[in-house]
Amino acid sequence: ACGTSQETTSGEGSEAGETEEKKTLRVVTDAAYAPFEYQDKGEIIGFDVDFIEAVAEEAGYEIEIEHVGWDPLFVEIKDEIADFGISAITINDDRKQTYDFSVPYFLSTNKILVPEGSDIASAADLEGKVVAVQAGTTGQEAVEGIMGKNNKNMKQFENNNLAIMELTSGGADAVVADNTVVEEYVKNNPDQKLTVVEDADSFASEYYGLMFPKGSELKAEFDEAINKVLDSGKYAEIYNEWFGS
Ligand code: ARG
Repeated sequence: ACGTSQETTSGEGSEAGETEEKKTLRVVTDAAYAPFEYQDKGEIIGFDVDFIEAVAEEAGYEIEIEHVGWDPLFVEIKDEIADFGISAITINDDRKQTYDFSVPYFLSTNKILVPEGSDIASAADLEGKVVAVQAGTTGQEAVEGIMGKNNKNMKQFENNNLAIMELTSGGADAVVADNTVVEEYVKNNPDQKLTVVEDADSFASEYYGLMFPKGSELKAEFDEAINKVLDSGKYAEIYNEWFGS
């Protein structure tokens, strides 16, 4: 994966024109969600990073990806401090009231992360357990759907890494987060003896999208660029780099 800086002159086929300089967009993220966005020696890397660099290049923009955290990301986009966000953000009706989303680019669902040997075998088993989630995510909503709102047994954290730390330190019985993220965590940390509950039907399917301020004119341009990246084989290439075996 390469960094967030790109050439300053517009390339061939750029919609910004051949002599114009590319405009730099401020893109915000919560880089604590491997393998989508995370920090490696101070650099933000991940599937989302490679994907948005390909899309931005297609659309004819420079981008600067800034790690601001999950809650600030929503504020910055709403207040139009940022041009858009990419952060494994699920497109849903609730968020659509305040934001505009791109076309979908990734299929996801929530899954339950537990220690090996846990008696949690389905979402219904979460009742009566202590469950850690990242606050303000669809994972939190999914848990509230089972345990009810304001349940003291649902512990909320500012980022997903802290939720997982609560589990590994024994302060929670489970974490609920996006399937790719918990599966990747299990794979990369075999010594921690965790596993993902395989209950295919527990939680709904979700799609990730870029999240824009309502009415942003960038949406149409980025939708077109996303579709090109999807159709050209570029998406498959990036996907295989991160998820191919
Ligand atoms: N897909 C979930 C949601 O939109 C979780 C995303 C969390 N992303 C992150 N970078 N922490 O609520």
